[in-house]
Amino acid sequence: MANLLVTGGAGFIGSNFVHYWLRQHPEDRVINLDLLTYAGNLENLKAVETNPQYKFVQADICERPAIEAIFTNEKIDRVVHFAAESHVDRSITGPEAFVKTNVMGTFVLLDVARNTWGARKDVRFLHVSTDEVYGSLQPTDPAFTEENPYRPNSPYSASKASSDHLVRSYFHTYGMPVVTTNCSNNYGPYQFPEKLIPLVFSNAMDNKPLPVYGKGANIRDWLYVEDHCSGIEAVLQKGKLGETYNIGGCNEWKNIDIVHCICDYIDSFSGEAKSKRELITYVKDRPGHDFRYAIDASKIERELGWKPSVQFEEGIRRTIDWYRSNDEWLQRVRNQSYREYYQKQYKD
Ligand code: NAD
Ligand code: DAU
Repeated sequence: MANLLVTGGAGFIGSNFVHYWLRQHPEDRVINLDLLTYAGNLENLKAVETNPQYKFVQADICERPAIEAIFTNEKIDRVVHFAAESHVDRSITGPEAFVKTNVMGTFVLLDVARNTWGARKDVRFLHVSTDEVYGSLQPTDPAFTEENPYRPNSPYSASKASSDHLVRSYFHTYGMPVVTTNCSNNYGPYQFPEKLIPLVFSNAMDNKPLPVYGKGANIRDWLYVEDHCSGIEAVLQKGKLGETYNIGGCNEWKNIDIVHCICDYIDSFSGEAKSKRELITYVKDRPGHDFRYAIDASKIERELGWKPSVQFEEGIRRTIDWYRSNDEWLQRVRNQSYREYYQKQYKD
């Protein structure tokens, strides 16, 4: 039985992971540590609230005494670290929070784990990172492997790269049992509607403009969130200490094609005469916008036997159907603070 600390477990991937873990490992205790920033939402965890194996603690990963207390009181022996500022656009308008949470927060967690665990070898710290640390690809470049040099281009990816380096250094310097995952774009239930897929879905349902940056030609490699969770599980259980593992869907899409795909699916059930495609509006590009990400996930497949299991056509339908059946969730997260963010970002 493990005492698993999940940081950022009230966010998009973290909450999917908490559900996944309690289903797959009902004998483990899951302690969800989350500050509940604008991106954290306890509604995502309603279904597990009364599970005796689950506990929520509201705390900031930058606050050392709070983290120390959790490690000691909960006898933490596994960490899956998701907590972060995660949205690239927000990192462009307000980079400081990214440095604080993603760099300092990761440092505090690592350092508390090291001091609490000492030389124990029966413990493990998994750091959840992103493919964005590798920078941007040209159309014909090979996909990112774990050997690609780090070339982060946004304050978000620079702060994640920095945290990855700290994790690496704790393995090499202190022998801490760490592993890192670098994953591509996730989609699925509970994603906050500042990100492309839920933003396009919710605007389309409201007949609002669908903002596409630049020419919509940028490419991302999309992975269904549950496949990311099973990839993390594989690395936590079987990954080699000190190693990094890329996780991705082998599923590259141009942004405009994703937007078309969402519009066409909504058209198939909306019964409206006008296609949602008519709402597409090309807007000013994101500064420093990375052109293409693509993950080579052959290492995790070869060494740990992991492969994605959800095809994109199936995953996007599941995702949109989830948002359709959870309209109240969507309305609640698009609160005053979301509307203010949206107005500033899109100047509508
Ligand atoms: P998210 O923004 O939906 O959730 C982040 C969570 O972290 C929120 O619940 C928030 O309240 C919490 N948090 C923020 N600051 C905190 C702090 N100081 N202390 C404690 N909790 C804090 O993010 P997400 O999309 O679920 O991403 C989770 C992780 O996965 C991040 O580390 C991100 O870099 C990484 N990642 C995301 C993607 C993706 O496509 N979304 C892909 C690869 C990697
Ligand atoms: O690659 C992994 C990363 O994927 C994660 O590390 C990040 O946490 C996550 O936010 C995501 O970053 P992106 O910047 O790729 O995701 P986002 O949904 O913001 O944008 C996807 C693409 O769509 C990107 O090329 C920008 C574009 N876009 C986005 C928004 C919000 C638009 O064209 N219009 C929009 O309104």
